[in-house]
Amino acid sequence: MIRKISTKNLEIGMFVSDVGRAWFNHPWKTKSKYISDLSEIKELVDFGIEEVFIDTQKTLKPGVTAPTLKEDGFRAKEGSYRVRSQPPESVASTAKKEDPVSELELELPKAAKAYNRALDTSKALVAACRMNKRIEVNEVQENVDELVESVSRNQDALTALIKLRRFDDYTYTHSLNVSVLSIASGKALGLSDQELKILGMGTMFHDLGKCRIPSIILNKPDKLTDEEFVIMKNHAALSAEILIEQKLPVDDLVIKVARYHHERMDGSGYPDHLKGDQIPYLATVCGLSDVYDALTSDRVYHKGMLPHEALKFIYGLRGTHFQPEWVDRFVQSVGIYPPGSLVELNTGQMAVVMEVNHDSLLCPIIKLVVDPKGQIYDRPKVVNLAQPEGRDYSIQAVIPPKKAGIDPSYYFNLKGAS
Ligand SMILES: [Fe+2]
Ligand SMILES: [Fe+2]
Repeated sequence: MIRKISTKNLEIGMFVSDVGRAWFNHPWKTKSKYISDLSEIKELVDFGIEEVFIDTQKTLKPGVTAPTLKEDGFRAKEGSYRVRSQPPESVASTAKKEDPVSELELELPKAAKAYNRALDTSKALVAACRMNKRIEVNEVQENVDELVESVSRNQDALTALIKLRRFDDYTYTHSLNVSVLSIASGKALGLSDQELKILGMGTMFHDLGKCRIPSIILNKPDKLTDEEFVIMKNHAALSAEILIEQKLPVDDLVIKVARYHHERMDGSGYPDHLKGDQIPYLATVCGLSDVYDALTSDRVYHKGMLPHEALKFIYGLRGTHFQPEWVDRFVQSVGIYPPGSLVELNTGQMAVVMEVNHDSLLCPIIKLVVDPKGQIYDRPKVVNLAQPEGRDYSIQAVIPPKKAGIDPSYYFNLKGAS
């Protein structure tokens, strides 16, 4: 059973299943592990972490040592994966020493800093809106500029980051994630930096109107009634109204992205039932990212889909809700197997997707992390499936990392991300 406890009540032998912080925002190299030494508790306390999550069923009896990887493996071939302890730090550090650092990995720490700053702004935006205070538009613009610069240096680092971290509150991360996905896919679509900045701003503001929707409707876990849905749908128009009310010095297109992000090609959207080319293309990019982030995010009442499942769903909307070419380009940009995905190969090995080959979506660059017997490799090997070296490998399945007990973020160079 997972229980939240005060860090000060931790004891040796307890299994911390989650320190409750993003991977670059706590003192451990892993976010879950057995407490084997009092110094590990002190590290958390000194870092200011007051509470953590423990798995009470894994607490060890006095004198019993933590299970080794061998004892606690999983059965890949049978398709049932047992949660087991994380790979030892030596595995990750060996991998980092042995493998050349890719451009994506080089960008990750910078992307993480830009993301964290923008997340703080996203929280401030929601707070300002709830209290009817003025929006600090310059701050949002500065954050968006940083996101655009990161995407210009490397198209995939920020999208990899939002895939690798899924710990924060959806209320605050959603608009930021939509912004990141939109900027990255907009870049792949060939939009100019100016257009990307407008898109970034519009997406950061796209759901602002939700602060004027009664929370009983906003947070209702069950299906909304017809009347409630009418109220809920009003949020897009309200987002635009808030920006207009505050007379913010933003491009008119920023307001249009907010107002029209739920409009759909066939006229089935809202609030104005626009059709086809009547919908500004930046609002379409926002709409695609919005659906993708909503589908892949864990919510209180539903588990997020895996990226390839969400893309399949979006593909089903091709030609009705979204123009086919926009859907194709969005899929090409996000990648069927985004970095950080854990996949099972035809060989029985498991691999972490490190980079997307945007011209060959089914053949990403992967790192082999687990052998066919379920043993973690000491020296994970990088294989580019689009190159001759990858011809003997094919991806058979995508595995939820939690099911396999693997944290894909171990296999990325996160040095300097804290
Ligand atoms: Fe929305
Ligand atoms: Fe949204």
